Amino acid sequence: MTTAPPLSALADLMRDAAAVMDSTGVIDPPRQPVKVGVDLGTAYVVLLVLDAQDRPLAGGYESADVVRDGVVVDFAGAASVVRRLKAVAEQRLGATLTTAHGSYPPGVPLAEVRAVQHVIEAADLECSGLVDEPSAANAVLQLPDGVIVDVGGGTTGVAVVQDGQVVHTADEPTGGHHLTLVIAGARGVPLEEAERMKVDPDQQRALLPVVRPVMEKVAAIIRTAVGGFPVPRIHLVGGSVAFPGFADVVAEATGWQTTAAPHPLFVTPLGIARTAPAAPTLPAPEATVSKETRRG
Ligand SMILES: Nc1ncnc2c1ncn2[C@@H]1O[C@H](COP(=O)(O)OP(=O)(O)OP(=O)(O)O)[C@@H](O)[C@H]1O
Ligand SMILES: [Mg+2]
Repeated sequence: MTTAPPLSALADLMRDAAAVMDSTGVIDPPRQPVKVGVDLGTAYVVLLVLDAQDRPLAGGYESADVVRDGVVVDFAGAASVVRRLKAVAEQRLGATLTTAHGSYPPGVPLAEVRAVQHVIEAADLECSGLVDEPSAANAVLQLPDGVIVDVGGGTTGVAVVQDGQVVHTADEPTGGHHLTLVIAGARGVPLEEAERMKVDPDQQRALLPVVRPVMEKVAAIIRTAVGGFPVPRIHLVGGSVAFPGFADVVAEATGWQTTAAPHPLFVTPLGIARTAPAAPTLPAPEATVSKETRRG
């Protein structure tokens, strides 16, 4: 690994991953093994299926309150979300998935990491392995050197990459939820309404001054976390950096060049799936799919 792929290649890749999340309809069953990634996040659970050449085939995501700080707090809830997402993907593929790869934030105790495996198994999938989240993100970004910052729902994870390997990580409790909290406070609205406002492209420009202090807090977390490591560039991933202007605020506050990945919500899930070994599918059973689940 010597150079990262150009930004345009990353944009194409992420566009393809995002496209399958919104696609409906049945596609030809894969005649070759597939790679499946499951990301159990604080805000969203994402499942993504790739073909053996890493091309996105199917996927879906649901907002779910089943994990906090990388720890599964609602095992049955997590398993049923994964089962629903699996059913949606299977319906689209016309095939039954057999295995999935999972992930965990660095620094989480081994017992909690195992819980991710057990959730996958409870959804009738063999767990083909677990990868730490920054390494999954770097399976997509393919940085030889740099800093990956994952601003998820609950936390900001910082990972320093040197020679293609994650050599240092830190995780601090500031994420998208905190943006929602400040919007709720500033506008005097309930959290659900603040969350809707936050992700509404028509309202984001007006909300930037409200959420800017939280973005500056993320920048301060990054500065502390990287310590004395060299910082060629900061690469932002995670759903929260979809808020326009996030990268600019971090660049201004840190003085380091900063880029937000396109469709940042799907970088880590795509990386988990890329890390998975290709496994055969089985013929499709009769599947019933919940309407709550976004089809992909
Ligand atoms: N378009 C958007 N603009 C702003 N924020 C967004 C947008 N889309 C999603 N988010 C936010 O992204 C966050 C979820 O991101 P992500 O899925 O990366 O987190 P997670 O993996 O569930 O959480 P964690 O990594 O902390 O466990 C939520 O707070 C959500 O509100
Ligand atoms: Mg995450």
